Amino acid sequence: MNTIETEDSLGITFCNRQAVAIERGEGCKVWDEEGREYLDFTSGWGVTCLGHAHPVITAAIYAQAQKIIQNPNSGFTYSPARASLLSALSKVLPVNLSKVYFANSGAEANDAAIKLARKINGKSKIVSTLASFHGRTFNTLSISGGPDNTDQFLPHLDGNSFVPFGDLAALVKDVDEDTAAVILEPIQGEGGVRIPHENYLSAVASVCKEKGVLLIIDEIQTGFCRTGKFFAIEHSKESITPDIMTMGKGIAGGFPFAAFAISDAVDQRLSKGDHGGTFCGNPLACAVATAVVDHLRAENIAEKAKISGELLLRGLKEIAAKFPDFVGNIRGSGLLCAFELGSDEDVMRLSQAALARGLLVTPTRNKIVRLIPPLNVTESEIVDGLYLLESSLASVVPRH
Ligand SMILES: Cc1ncc(COP(=O)(O)O)c(C=O)c1O
Repeated sequence: MNTIETEDSLGITFCNRQAVAIERGEGCKVWDEEGREYLDFTSGWGVTCLGHAHPVITAAIYAQAQKIIQNPNSGFTYSPARASLLSALSKVLPVNLSKVYFANSGAEANDAAIKLARKINGKSKIVSTLASFHGRTFNTLSISGGPDNTDQFLPHLDGNSFVPFGDLAALVKDVDEDTAAVILEPIQGEGGVRIPHENYLSAVASVCKEKGVLLIIDEIQTGFCRTGKFFAIEHSKESITPDIMTMGKGIAGGFPFAAFAISDAVDQRLSKGDHGGTFCGNPLACAVATAVVDHLRAENIAEKAKISGELLLRGLKEIAAKFPDFVGNIRGSGLLCAFELGSDEDVMRLSQAALARGLLVTPTRNKIVRLIPPLNVTESEIVDGLYLLESSLASVVPRH
């Protein structure tokens, strides 16, 4: 297919196509201004899926930057870089999601998904889950389940509701005649790597279908091999067919970029002009994302993340057994792992101790520490990271 045919068939034509100063990084390691080395088990909030300064990414940036960074009149012209990415994504997306549009951040992708769902259903209520996180725009704050996300910015958008994550009965009760869509993370990331029962997502999908509401799956943190599958919905026992799926973070390995994919049925209810944005689908970001997606597929990074994740989880459990009164609830899916401490203060003390020893971890709400290393982290880096974590824990656990 040539560029125009590819974009016409795969793209959504909304428009008429016209405290430590980290200085550098390589792979799983970063260095501060003084030249001190750290193991990065954060991936910059789960973004740098191929680690830092990966040659595939830097080469894609360089090559595309030499050609063109922003199309003249952005969305009003076709773009070979955008067409290449649409083709690459069509090979990994759930089969029912046939059209893709691009955004610049996860929040922007979710915001658009909510906006479009409201248009399609002519209703306004979005059912979300407690402890969820979907972004920081007004729409996405209003459907993010932590009070610290919403209550300080009142009034937020009215009429949405929240049910406990994993509680199907509560969701069934809450989805009513005013509901436009249900939005769900397949595994809650910012909520603390909360993994639902393997039947939960497919049951939610059935409820949405029965009640005629859209299912928006937020794969922003879990997508692009993070959990050991290309998308986390693939862990579900029965296959899931979301109406809209949002993507971000790892999609371009650290280059700011996001996307959402929609079914044909959703696409048919949308019109040109329903959505847009100056930088959406710019050729530079598209070229980087294409390089990342192709590399993830070619190197079977999902399988590698699964194996590395098992090693990390095993190590975490062994360490936790040495601090039974201090560390608990170890869980993970691929390289999205977490454990719990006694208090948020303990989490901060541990994170500081780890930083002092050269390990970066992600302190998370609700007494949780997240470990999100790059997907190509090596076995010896995992062993080193576990060693640093154990010594950090020993330094903050009272009886040590
Ligand atoms: C599941 C989920 N959705 C949406 C977002 C928001 O993405 P962004 O920070 O790119 O706006 C995040 C960010 O952490 C996330 O984890």
